[in-house]
Amino acid sequence: MSSRFYVTTPIYYVNDKPHLGTAYSTITADVLTRYHRLFGDEALFLTGVDEHGQKVQQAAEKRGLAPQVHCDELAENFKTVWRELDIQYDVFFRTTDEFHKTAVQKALQDLYDKGDIYLNEYEGWYCVSEEVFYTEKELVNGKTPTGKDVTRVNEKNYFFRMSKYQNPLIEYIHSHPDFIRPENRKNEVLGFLRQPLADLCISRPKSRLAWGVEIPFDRDYVTYVWFDALLNYATAVGLNQAERSADFSKWWREAGANHLIGKDILITHSVYWTTMLLAMGVPLPKTIFAHGWVLNRDNEKMSKSKGSVMDPHEMVQFVGVDALRYFLIRDIHLGNDAPISHELVINRINTDLANNLGNLLSRTSTLIDKFFGGIVPHYNPAIADTDPASRDLIAHATQLAAEVKSRIEDFEPSVALERIVDLLNETNRFLETKAPWKTAKTDPTMASQHLYMAVEILRITGALLSPVMPKKCRELLSAVGVKAIEWGSLSKWAVTPPQTPIAKTAPLFPRIDASSGS
Ligand code: MSP
Repeated sequence: MSSRFYVTTPIYYVNDKPHLGTAYSTITADVLTRYHRLFGDEALFLTGVDEHGQKVQQAAEKRGLAPQVHCDELAENFKTVWRELDIQYDVFFRTTDEFHKTAVQKALQDLYDKGDIYLNEYEGWYCVSEEVFYTEKELVNGKTPTGKDVTRVNEKNYFFRMSKYQNPLIEYIHSHPDFIRPENRKNEVLGFLRQPLADLCISRPKSRLAWGVEIPFDRDYVTYVWFDALLNYATAVGLNQAERSADFSKWWREAGANHLIGKDILITHSVYWTTMLLAMGVPLPKTIFAHGWVLNRDNEKMSKSKGSVMDPHEMVQFVGVDALRYFLIRDIHLGNDAPISHELVINRINTDLANNLGNLLSRTSTLIDKFFGGIVPHYNPAIADTDPASRDLIAHATQLAAEVKSRIEDFEPSVALERIVDLLNETNRFLETKAPWKTAKTDPTMASQHLYMAVEILRITGALLSPVMPKKCRELLSAVGVKAIEWGSLSKWAVTPPQTPIAKTAPLFPRIDASSGS
């Protein structure tokens, strides 16, 4: 049954270029979207940039540019990197778009009219780098819990009555077990909600910060950047835009959003955003999924402030875009932290892609070329029926698509890839045992039988890997004669027509010499 899938990445601050850590969310969302499209679902993928707030204002000031000019330039940088990483988003959201600002102002006005926003004195701390308010009690040695600097803030501000929605939120989380994921993140949010929730400061006086959405009922203020930014997920699909109500029903109310975020922004999404929605009377997203960190070689979070970031462009130059995408999805179990280094990437590529997938394609196409004139050889189902090893392999191959689908739907893309690699391993072992390079001379019926089976497995695995490695899999599939992937055909056997020409291919993933990593 086909359905709809709406996935979002965080919208990134335009204070710098994306690095591999920030690229990770976007690649993951792209992979999930491509999988859903492969399953026949209708999908919508949103990414974008978070342009307002003090952090961006300061970055612009540092460059001596007006904030809008700075943002226009950096937004382009993001698009360039996403293009290089083969990311096919549907919406590139910018919080400076007029329609969004108007929709944010409507949300503020509605909440104000309802009595859920009020004016009060704010006395506390602010962390510009996280754009988060902190109370004295929350600080650790005068810094944020993650060690970032804070500044003292003493100003009249508007507050959102977040506390009023604490209990409804707790009940919602309990009654929707798959809402915040993974499980440990749900527990973290519930732990946070054990303390009384304070109301949320949602404005900054223009005298302190000019770069933001003006508060509609008080022109001396702009909106707190998170209040503005979180709304992007819903305004993108039509919230507070009368003429787009059909879109809003389709993607927000019916499909439901899946927010893929880093674990550092769990509370802003699971508490600020959800209480805002509860107050507005708008359904909550379907899933908030917090992933872990891409770590550097010293097992620390890759972060610009530590100067330990890896440039996606440099990695693409080194191993190619598909291998990089494969590494990030395969080696980082979604939700956990995991390191990346040249050495780890080389090992993974050599093991899974060069020695396994690439090897299966090159040995199959070489043997078909050498012994069968480059044409798919004959397959006899009756022979397979009498051979337990063949029966097992076929059963495994025809169940793989369903297994991959359920893993992807469950946000476990690394496990989906593991299963695909298991089948490739099994197939290479099968060929070792059957040795078609020998039987081609002594028993060509058997050689043709087993090579046909290898072609079928390449057809299935090539299609199932295509959301992760779109370009390489297109090459692979075209080598085995597949023009267009049809989802239903991936759980069927003996689909490749007889006489299909099989192209003898150059190695799809040449082995990388370990000494070339640094
Ligand atoms: N602008 C806010 C998000 C607003 S969403 C309504 C923001 N932007 S950010 O640019 O600072 O970070 C965006 C995302 O990148 C976060 O989810 C963060 O976890 C992620 N990452 C930054 N470094 C990362 C790693 N090293 N590894 C994985 N993700 C990382 O926060």
